[in-house]
Amino acid sequence: MNDGTSSSDPAAVPAEKIDPPPQWVLDLIEGSPIASVVSDPRLPDNPLIAINKAFEDLTGFSKEECVGRNCRFLAGSGTEPWLTEKIREGVREHKPVLVEILNYKKDGTPFRNAVLVAPIYGDEDQLQYFLGSQVEIAEGDSSVSIGRQQRAAEALKTLSPRQFEVTRMVASGLRNKQVAAELGLSEKTVKMHRGLAMEKLGFTSSADLVRIAVEAGI
Ligand SMILES: Cc1cc2nc3c(=O)[nH]c(=O)nc-3n(C[C@H](O)[C@H](O)[C@H](O)COP(=O)(O)O)c2cc1C
Repeated sequence: MNDGTSSSDPAAVPAEKIDPPPQWVLDLIEGSPIASVVSDPRLPDNPLIAINKAFEDLTGFSKEECVGRNCRFLAGSGTEPWLTEKIREGVREHKPVLVEILNYKKDGTPFRNAVLVAPIYGDEDQLQYFLGSQVEIAEGDSSVSIGRQQRAAEALKTLSPRQFEVTRMVASGLRNKQVAAELGLSEKTVKMHRGLAMEKLGFTSSADLVRIAVEAGI
């Protein structure tokens, strides 16, 4: 059993009452080798509506156990309240956050989770979802996160200025349509730059593109 509040934290929304997410939401996370989730802040208690296989593998929780519940089930007695507050603040202010917080797997094993939480906007500029992605890092090894940050920054240097700009905007939660409007490009051109950026970085999902941009701090 998890050391946290999971057993006393039933689904806010029964999983069967959650509409299947649109395909573009599933596409965001499904192909990612990094544990990734999507939550819907328009539903009571901001529950998860989708998780990928890597999240199941990392945490031991199945899709059925996660969908409909707020992601706080990963927290437990050793979770740092000030780091949870940072995530809460990012959620409240619709800003991407990256913190290294103590979490617990389903079997109670603690792990240091470099968790990213970032907003995703809909076509009408309204907040629609939050993306979360979780990477297990070794306890006390801050060189891992510094290494990740440096690697992320180096990788982004390989992008063309346009690809970089599109990546930065995608990471701030904008959809292709909005990026196109902001940069005065067609949606098709934005899609192309985004596709090329992903290819250059070796990514199969946009969730990874968001994560690298936030890791690099762009
Ligand atoms: C998409 C998303 C992913 C999240 N992932 C994690 C996570 O991996 N670990 C964690 O401790 N909190 C995570 N959180 C934060 C928790 O869901 C919750 O907001 C936080 O624990 C505060 O809980 P409280 O509302 O009970 O104060 C995530 C939040 C969102 C919106």
